Amino acid sequence: MDNNLKIYNSDASLYAFKFNKFNRIKDIVKIFFLCKIDNPKVLELGCANGRDAKEILKRTDNYLGVDGAEKLLDIAKIENPNANFILSDFRDLKFDPNSFDIVIDFDSLFHFDKDDLKEMISHIYEWLNPGGLFMMDAKFGAYQKVVNHEQSDKIQYLYQPKDILELSEGKFELIHEEIIDRFDKKWFTIILKKDN
Ligand SMILES: C[S@@+](CC[C@H](N)C(=O)[O-])C[C@H]1O[C@@H](n2cnc3c(N)ncnc32)[C@H](O)[C@@H]1O
Repeated sequence: MDNNLKIYNSDASLYAFKFNKFNRIKDIVKIFFLCKIDNPKVLELGCANGRDAKEILKRTDNYLGVDGAEKLLDIAKIENPNANFILSDFRDLKFDPNSFDIVIDFDSLFHFDKDDLKEMISHIYEWLNPGGLFMMDAKFGAYQKVVNHEQSDKIQYLYQPKDILELSEGKFELIHEEIIDRFDKKWFTIILKKDN
């Protein structure tokens, strides 16, 4: 199992507590506003304890959350008994082309290096319907690996929006970009659109 997943799994209650101190309602409102489809099909990568599933489910019945940390997903299932969740490493996911209108990643794919992220973005492109939207949020910085020694060597990578566009090889159009300060660090949120 991926070492990051082991870490999230072994401290699931603590991570759930930490994730619940924040919310993504503003971003969820924005992506649903931009999507313009009734009851869109939404895939959330890194749904963790289901904090955002709750908000997304207020806006669509078609939600699928994926996370590789079983114990976080157990909490998500208790909190959202009617939602669909899959326990999987993102790298093992298989969906038919044109399966979703929206793919959301709040601070999960930043655990991937450039090679893995490039492959993931290319899958996301395939899985999205024409005109579909991919929202990604991550820590902002010049590309580098960051190892958190206090949290059992959990690994993250810093990215900038231009890196994500490069990795997507021009397939997506950038329709929203925001760089903000959060928890004393810089973060970015982008929304990429698949062509119609
Ligand atoms: C920093 S947390 C973010 C959780 C939530 N989206 C939020 O914004 O609070 C990263 C999440 O991604 C999941 N994750 C990390 N790497 C993963 C992988 N390779 N496959 C599946 N899930 C992964 C972790 O289990 C964790 O729930």
